Amino acid sequence: MIRALLTALAAALLYLSAAEAAAAPDPYTAPIPAIGASWYPEQWPEARWDTDLALMRRANFTVVRVGEFAWSRLEPRDGRFDFAWLDRAIAAAARHGIRVVIGTPTAAPPIWLTEAYPDVLRVNEDGSVEGHGERRQFSFASATYRRYATRIAGELARRYGRNPAVVGWQIDNEIGVPSFDREAKAQWALWLAARYGTIDALNRRWTTEYWSQRYDRFDQVPLKSRGPHNPALMLDFRRFVSTVWADYVGVQAAAIRAHADRRQFVTTNSTSWNNNFDQYLVHRDLDIAAWDDYVPNGRPDWAANALHHDLVRGYKNRNFWVMEAQPGRVDWASLNRSLEPGQVREIAWQAVGHGGDAIVYWQWRSAFNGQEQYHGTLLGPDGEPMPIYEEIARTGAEFAAAGRHLAGTIVPRAEIALIYSQESRWAIENERHSRDYDPVAALKDWYRPFAAAGRAVDVLSPSADLSGYRLVLAPNLNLLDEATAAWLETYVRSGGQLVLGPRSGMKDRDNGLWRQRQPGPLSGLLGARVDYYYPLDEPERIHGDVGVATVNTWAEVLDPRAPDVKTVARYTGGSGWLTGRPAIVSRPAGRGSITYVGAMLDVDGQEQLTAWMTARAGVSGPVIAPVAGLEVMERQDARTRYLILINHNDVPVVVTLPAKGRLVLGDLRGSELPAHGVLLWAISRSK
Ligand code: GLA
Repeated sequence: MIRALLTALAAALLYLSAAEAAAAPDPYTAPIPAIGASWYPEQWPEARWDTDLALMRRANFTVVRVGEFAWSRLEPRDGRFDFAWLDRAIAAAARHGIRVVIGTPTAAPPIWLTEAYPDVLRVNEDGSVEGHGERRQFSFASATYRRYATRIAGELARRYGRNPAVVGWQIDNEIGVPSFDREAKAQWALWLAARYGTIDALNRRWTTEYWSQRYDRFDQVPLKSRGPHNPALMLDFRRFVSTVWADYVGVQAAAIRAHADRRQFVTTNSTSWNNNFDQYLVHRDLDIAAWDDYVPNGRPDWAANALHHDLVRGYKNRNFWVMEAQPGRVDWASLNRSLEPGQVREIAWQAVGHGGDAIVYWQWRSAFNGQEQYHGTLLGPDGEPMPIYEEIARTGAEFAAAGRHLAGTIVPRAEIALIYSQESRWAIENERHSRDYDPVAALKDWYRPFAAAGRAVDVLSPSADLSGYRLVLAPNLNLLDEATAAWLETYVRSGGQLVLGPRSGMKDRDNGLWRQRQPGPLSGLLGARVDYYYPLDEPERIHGDVGVATVNTWAEVLDPRAPDVKTVARYTGGSGWLTGRPAIVSRPAGRGSITYVGAMLDVDGQEQLTAWMTARAGVSGPVIAPVAGLEVMERQDARTRYLILINHNDVPVVVTLPAKGRLVLGDLRGSELPAHGVLLWAISRSK
């Protein structure tokens, strides 16, 4: 009752005056979990809007995203703004009880802008210049573009920053593509000068005596994204691009915040495993993270998707939004298979289970023309619901029912942290050394057994606060600078269990080789070093405390030096470099331990390793007995733990729920959860 009153009060607050709303501490005013779609009112006659919005309400939608490509409608001529249509579109949405996220339209500049200032156009690495009619045809480094982008973002915020129906802002749309234009090159030189101080320092740290790479001036250093090239240059290119994008996002965020009240969040929508920039840096000036969760081949890999949710939650260490998801299928894969019935709902609930506070479908209805006619939508070209509409409407009804429970809940801090080092990924991808070594696949391999066992994992940057985690995993921490090494050592000495995976501790901050062998600055703590590493083209085997396991792709031979180093597993068989040598070693250190896993294990081996690691670290048992394909997630607030269960299988499974607790909603039939079934289970935290 009190809760219902509070919810009503919160809703009423929305409609208070702007000044009062600005004082409201709650940064979210969209219902949680929110559900909706990208809606492009500018593409449709106004007479149609009410019909669309009524159909959205029928689907229990609570939010729409608008505006993100509408620059030529919002500013048809330089400095002449036309917001009247957007005023009416937002008002229409509000009349239907639908809140609005505004995308700044800067991913699609109008032609008057690029025509007047051709310098703003993006230059590709091969020197070709992007033109009009596609999108993202601008240079992220162009001062002129920044000026125009910031102005339109600011004008929008001036107009809608206190509009009670507008709950948040999305900056640009799927940023990432760099430009190689004159301004970008000039900024690169300045960036290098700021980083290295003198060209001599750069030459020294980059070892430019190699192949006569020595430079006399910073502006001689080529701006290149693709090698082979000096590994330091390759890595610095990524860092530079990250800072330009972070600034690009930062200035738009500042322009919005100058007018928007605190109730409105500011985010951007990032893409899956985007490798163009450092997400942690780009999220510096944003309130929440958001990502676009697509399954291009229509065959969901639930554990990999779960990992990505956890990754995105870690960008800001808080709940996030799924800003785009497919209503069935995409149009940009080589074969655009549709998700099976039930899977769209399943994916929505999975997002919620991992801390997603919203799922927004792309898109409501496809424009009659334009590049994306084949994409999945909720409505057909006739304006009538498509087959997926009912499933999404049902999900919306469930979200509405769950909101009372889930608003204000968060994913509890896990006992296990998985380190995602963007810089290590860049370093390895630049020099894979084996075509089969994929650092993202390795991350997934390390994550999967935890997901399968229903154990929560937080995915964190190498500089995140690790205190309190029982187990910290770094599957390929290739680039390990001194500060991170010291950070990890403190974690271990104060009682943490750190497990490094293959290729860890090889490179310094400049992507140069450490003078000591792997794991570089942590080899003292480990009391062992990697003697050498061996890419494999056929499987090897190990045996030891982790059982017998197959090794694929990569094997490192460990060389214990300190007497208290324990060999956990050795290579067996054959008569080669690996035979009989240690593959996994571990050493107690301070109140914790450090383990180095030199072998890339197959699925069973990784599972065995996981069992060994969790038992040693004293990680709590899963709340529900593991069942293959059954995902168990948790959100909570001070009073209640909410378990979200999803059966990702094509067949029903039997679940054993905790005796304490009650079903909030879902598909439970007796003790069976049907194929693609979902359930929400509440357990009171009071004794
Ligand atoms: C991206 C874009 C959208 C749309 C979808 C189609 O995620 O952000 O504008 O093009 O892809 O899947």
